[in-house]
Amino acid sequence: MDTPTIAATDWDEWLEALCTHLTFLQEEGQSHVAVDPKHVAAWRTASSTTTAASPGTAVPPPKVAAAPSSPAPMEEGEDMGSLEAIAQRVASCQLCGLCKTRTRTVPGQGAPRPELMFIGEGPGADEDQQGLAFVGRAGKLLTKIIEAMGFQRDEVWIGNIVKCRPPNNRPPTPEEMNACLPYLKAQIALLQPKVIVCLGATAVKGLFNPQATISRLRGQWMNFEGIDTMPTYHPAYLLRNPSAKRDVWADMKAVLERLGRSA
Ligand code: URA
Ligand code: SF4
Repeated sequence: MDTPTIAATDWDEWLEALCTHLTFLQEEGQSHVAVDPKHVAAWRTASSTTTAASPGTAVPPPKVAAAPSSPAPMEEGEDMGSLEAIAQRVASCQLCGLCKTRTRTVPGQGAPRPELMFIGEGPGADEDQQGLAFVGRAGKLLTKIIEAMGFQRDEVWIGNIVKCRPPNNRPPTPEEMNACLPYLKAQIALLQPKVIVCLGATAVKGLFNPQATISRLRGQWMNFEGIDTMPTYHPAYLLRNPSAKRDVWADMKAVLERLGRSA
């Protein structure tokens, strides 16, 4: 494996991710991890050239013996064990070019066994800063939709097709969506929602068909790996086209009916 190079500005964030990962391994019962001496040398060089090594900002050393090398790419159908394990893989993922421009990864968040899962396109500027899905303007509208359905935001799961922000909020490319999809599939397998709501064209393209168009598919039940899935408009589209809220509400009523809840 290549020796990793670490930009000085990334050091704090990288070290924090490493500590989280080591703590996770320790909680899983591991007391030792293999580490290539080349990597230790690279980390030592990086730490000695950054301000993060100054007193005051030091991160407490992890209790396990040594650091692991970076995680292997995820494989289709691989058992990722837990949502936390997936989020940690995502945090260090470099499987597509979006890793170069992200500030934070956005794995998605919410209830661990939700009835309902919402899937959007990808993080925007606010999400990229905070590491949380749907926290900007579109996210506030999504919260209103969720609450109008009789749920609290933390009772559902909210995530995206890609976990890193595409520059200038452009839609992710098919290659980026494909690279990231195994994470979402692993999340869905753990979450086992009763219903998935695809928010906008990218979510439908990513899960079903790159040629899909949302205006033709919205409101029609689809099936993603055995789970009832409802495509509807993205909340950002609703901000530009408020009259489409009526369609979204019709779609959410169908979802509530499928869940045995009343609107
Ligand atoms: N738009 C999305 O598709 N996802 C987010 O997380 C935020 C805005
Ligand atoms: Fe990895 Fe997905 Fe981020 Fe690409 S978008 S770097 S595949 S986590």
